[in-house]
Amino acid sequence: MKDSEKLDNSGYIKGIDKSDMLNLCLCTHQLCKEAITIGRSFRLPQKAQVSKKLNITYKKPKNIIIAGMGGSGIGGDLLHDWLLNRMPVPVEVCRDYHLPAYAGEETLALIVSYSGETEEALSTLLDAVEHGCMTIAIASGGTLISFAQKLHLPHIVVRSGLQPRVAVPFLFFPLAIIVEKMGLISSVEEEFTETMEVLEGLAFENAAHVPLERNFVKKMAWELRSTIPVVYGFREYRAVAVRFKSELNENSKIPAKWESFPELNHNDVVGWEASIKLTKELTIVLIRDSNEPPEIRNRIEATKKLSLIKARKVLEVQARGKSALARMFSVLFLGDLTSIYLAILIGVDPAPVKIITAMKKEMQQNYNVVGKLADKVETLLR
Ligand code: F6R
Repeated sequence: MKDSEKLDNSGYIKGIDKSDMLNLCLCTHQLCKEAITIGRSFRLPQKAQVSKKLNITYKKPKNIIIAGMGGSGIGGDLLHDWLLNRMPVPVEVCRDYHLPAYAGEETLALIVSYSGETEEALSTLLDAVEHGCMTIAIASGGTLISFAQKLHLPHIVVRSGLQPRVAVPFLFFPLAIIVEKMGLISSVEEEFTETMEVLEGLAFENAAHVPLERNFVKKMAWELRSTIPVVYGFREYRAVAVRFKSELNENSKIPAKWESFPELNHNDVVGWEASIKLTKELTIVLIRDSNEPPEIRNRIEATKKLSLIKARKVLEVQARGKSALARMFSVLFLGDLTSIYLAILIGVDPAPVKIITAMKKEMQQNYNVVGKLADKVETLLR
């Protein structure tokens, strides 16, 4: 079979994509719906009595920290970017074992781990309790939920059995709904509805049965084969650019890079002075929006003109939709789907992430951080 025929051959696709990641991705709009229902059914308590000594009161926060790693951290980044222009309090995403020093009783700490087993997330949960933060855990189960239950903390349990990165709707919408329930943003229902409609439309246009010549995402994957993608985002597309890059890493198993305007004009562009031998291995993916702020549009155009001519190609992904959320998720979805089609084209199963799994096992076997944190839970309960 010719390479150009692979993405239009359902038997070939099935043979590579053993966990059916492609169809799961094409159902993102349905996962969003399920995630919104789960978020809406969550009841925010007024208090959590952790121990005789420690009592947490849930009120309107002065700042928000969202802690999570990899696929579980990106929901926090998306929330941050989406609400940049309308969130009255600062939002920080923590990708580490410990929360920043300012975390305290006025902090809403949302601790996210899809598996519920990620040691950094478990550590930040206990950190949040020690700091007296208004702590809420989000996971599909696992140790994070059992710690939250032991400590009498509110928690949201989402659908299990997915790869964390596929579960992005479950790791974003409940956060958005909590922020809405706390009175920090006004009703977002219309934006949610539009987002799901846009995603459904894009899934239809780029489904597996739509041939390469009429399928935008298959064409993107085709252009990105045998190159190193460099995704350039801006403002509300910063997290989306990060996500695009991570999906290329985890699904397609290739190196990739991301940058964001205007910052990239102050460092990254100089890298394009390298020899053509190097730069011709790179393909630029520009995230575009018909409502780009003029200063960003001018920079994108100037960058294209001045420096990027040395890349193998410059591709553009256009956001779709009216609301900020729909536009962000439209590009996120196109990026996710590109990475899956690319995996199939390369001939690698998009689902397994062997190195991440091996790394987690190695850490747990040698250092047993989770065991030590379980002891800490008992101390906190005293
Ligand atoms: C795997 C993936 C990873 C995980 C990360 C944290 O699909 O995307 O980036 O999300 O290793 O694990 P969880 O999400 O279980 O806390």
